Amino acid sequence: MKPYYDHGGITIYHGDAKGLLPTLHADAVVTDAPFGISDAPLAMGKRGGGHGGTGMRRGRDNTWHEESDWDRELDPALMPLCLASAPVVAWFGHWNKRELVEQHAGMKARAEIIWAKDMHCGPPCPVARQDERIWLFSASGITCKRFDTTVWREPAIPTWRKKLHKNEKPLALMKRLVLLLADAGQIIIDPFMGSGTTIVAAKELGVRAIGIDLSEKHCATTVSRLRQEVLFA
Ligand SMILES: C[S@@+](CC[C@H](N)C(=O)[O-])C[C@H]1O[C@@H](n2cnc3c(N)ncnc32)[C@H](O)[C@@H]1O
Repeated sequence: MKPYYDHGGITIYHGDAKGLLPTLHADAVVTDAPFGISDAPLAMGKRGGGHGGTGMRRGRDNTWHEESDWDRELDPALMPLCLASAPVVAWFGHWNKRELVEQHAGMKARAEIIWAKDMHCGPPCPVARQDERIWLFSASGITCKRFDTTVWREPAIPTWRKKLHKNEKPLALMKRLVLLLADAGQIIIDPFMGSGTTIVAAKELGVRAIGIDLSEKHCATTVSRLRQEVLFA
């Protein structure tokens, strides 16, 4: 497939990671993959379940971000494809999805990093969640590039800020993760790059990167960020 963008060690594809991953290989996959938690604000009212009610609304209209289907269920094919593309996979998730993700991987996570945010990100159920997890998977073992610990206190991007993507991750968090797994000159893939935070992090660290997203809008946002056309709040 022809890349959407290819410049300075960064390649972006607009397409389905399921078709593209088998053609790619890298030193690490670093990805904030679909969670399978269906957090679109209207999901609760329309279909039940999920984390409905988050974000901003005017009446029943969601004014926060567009509705999407990709986050509704975790596709069991995704993790094996990531594991086949690189010797180590860093995968974001909600704490209660760990067992499911391990089932998809066919192995236990080798490490669990707790991203401890500076604010909670949902209503009490029964206590308000202030963390996300990052699991490290590898069939062959992982030698991290530098020392780090399992609790990462990094500020989250508040839901009231105009985000580039509803799941936009802080750049500092993604840089820390890329630094843990790749040295300058090595190559990482984020097959579910969204607004491209992982890719921007890699670029700033001199790590080569391949990003993929289903949405052309997110590919365009990523390219704007790479060209530094987007101002950060
Ligand atoms: C959780 S978001 C990533 C957000 C990103 N970390 C950021 O900072 O903006 C996951 C992204 O995966 C994309 N996606 C979902 N399924 C996909 C697939 N099969 N192939 C490629 N992209 C996919 C969605 O369009 C979404 O933008």
